[in-house]
Amino acid sequence: MTDDPLRFAPDTAEVRTLYALTPDGFTAWQDGASEPHRAWAEAAEFQGKPGQMLVLPGPNGAPEAALVGLGDASAQARTRFSVAAARATLPAGPWRLSGDLDAAQLDEAALGWLLAGYRFERYATSPAPTATLVVPAGVDAARLEAMAAGEALTRDLINTPARDMGPADLARAATTLADRFDAQIAITDGDALAEGFPLIHTVGQAAGEGRSPRLIDMTWGNAGPRITLVGKGVCFDTGGLNLKPGASMGLMKKDMGGAATVLGLAQMLMETGQPIRLRVLIPAVENAVSGDAFRPGDILPSRKGLTVEINNTDAEGRLVLADALALAGEEETDLTVSMATLTGAARVAVGPDLAPFYTDDNGFAQALSDAGTRNADPLWRMPFWAPYETMIEPGIADLDNAPKGGFAGSITAALFLRRFVTAPRYVHFDIYGWNPSASPARPKGGVGQGARALFAAIEGMV
Ligand code: BES
Ligand code: MN
Ligand code: ZN
Repeated sequence: MTDDPLRFAPDTAEVRTLYALTPDGFTAWQDGASEPHRAWAEAAEFQGKPGQMLVLPGPNGAPEAALVGLGDASAQARTRFSVAAARATLPAGPWRLSGDLDAAQLDEAALGWLLAGYRFERYATSPAPTATLVVPAGVDAARLEAMAAGEALTRDLINTPARDMGPADLARAATTLADRFDAQIAITDGDALAEGFPLIHTVGQAAGEGRSPRLIDMTWGNAGPRITLVGKGVCFDTGGLNLKPGASMGLMKKDMGGAATVLGLAQMLMETGQPIRLRVLIPAVENAVSGDAFRPGDILPSRKGLTVEINNTDAEGRLVLADALALAGEEETDLTVSMATLTGAARVAVGPDLAPFYTDDNGFAQALSDAGTRNADPLWRMPFWAPYETMIEPGIADLDNAPKGGFAGSITAALFLRRFVTAPRYVHFDIYGWNPSASPARPKGGVGQGARALFAAIEGMV
């Protein structure tokens, strides 16, 4: 029993039916419908197209049932969460899904419904959706509710502006999560950070007092496969001395989207009690400008011992991740993941809807892609293209953080990270973390990518 818009409603007597219909399904529905409902649907020109929604009145004029369009197969390939789109405008109260949905579509519809309940209310309130859904038969309610809650955490963290989501705030958010699930958490900062994590320290050192860099290390669970998630926690990315132009800097509060996504995923895993040993590593920094900012041309040491020539201070994500990945590799893992809003090149290649990922493990790549499809979390595999390794090798250091020319920018960033990894199974995601325009179940703003696919793939490992 709950008013939480991210959860399902209890089944009650006054539940009404929401028919989700393809154009063909609508024709079939008409055959069984009452004459007034058939006439009403015809007058409203309902055809079962995606985005169509129609409330059917009962004899006294009160809403009795509703129709939502799914579209035909080609329309369905273009729209995710078309049932969820109806939630905002459906009359208040509990609804039950019926119609042309197979088990997989029911799952997607139910998940989308919950995701459509998300609102970002830290600075202003917005009306809560009043329509609720009774959990459809065969749908694992607890699992989908955990997915929705984890995604909501991710969105909240990304949407919060850098003023209120600096490195200390991000560490606090991780601590709150750890406390809720009795996880261990350690934060490294100050001299210990400078000593043990020179890249994280150097990238973050220009940020002002109270916004100093730190490494968040959370662990949970004591048996089962070891899963280590590393998330880019650049709380704001000015570009550093290679300052971003205003238009490119505007959205850079989202540069901790990788951290936000791994925290959301961690919440999903802990809330559903997965039998794993989970570790979450987040280098939390602000890439700022000041007299002690790192400079183009600097050569920096790293935790792993490799030296890095800085050719662009705006390629900071791979630097902070490199030290965190080196730490991750100091113990054996069954899966190591990095999640990062790492390159503009990834956005150019696949746009904001698809999460590009890299792995050398073909079997896991397939499992991950399938898990993405099943969980409405589309992914696209990219290559760790070894012939481009020369692009990240400068003359006078081991590695170059920003190869000239910018060819294959997402691939060279991924290859850079792989130099710091020893784990047999490594997956790297170069995500965008932001939905530029409102779509069903995904409002404009911060959005998780890859978390549900990883969640389902990890379920498959235990
Ligand atoms: N955080 C950015 C990448 C980014 C930009 C992600 C826009 C999503 C949208 C990252 O730190 C960055 O600035 N990368 C540079 C690297 C380049 C200097 C080698 C980029 O992609 O331009
Ligand atoms: Mn940058
Ligand atoms: Zn960045």
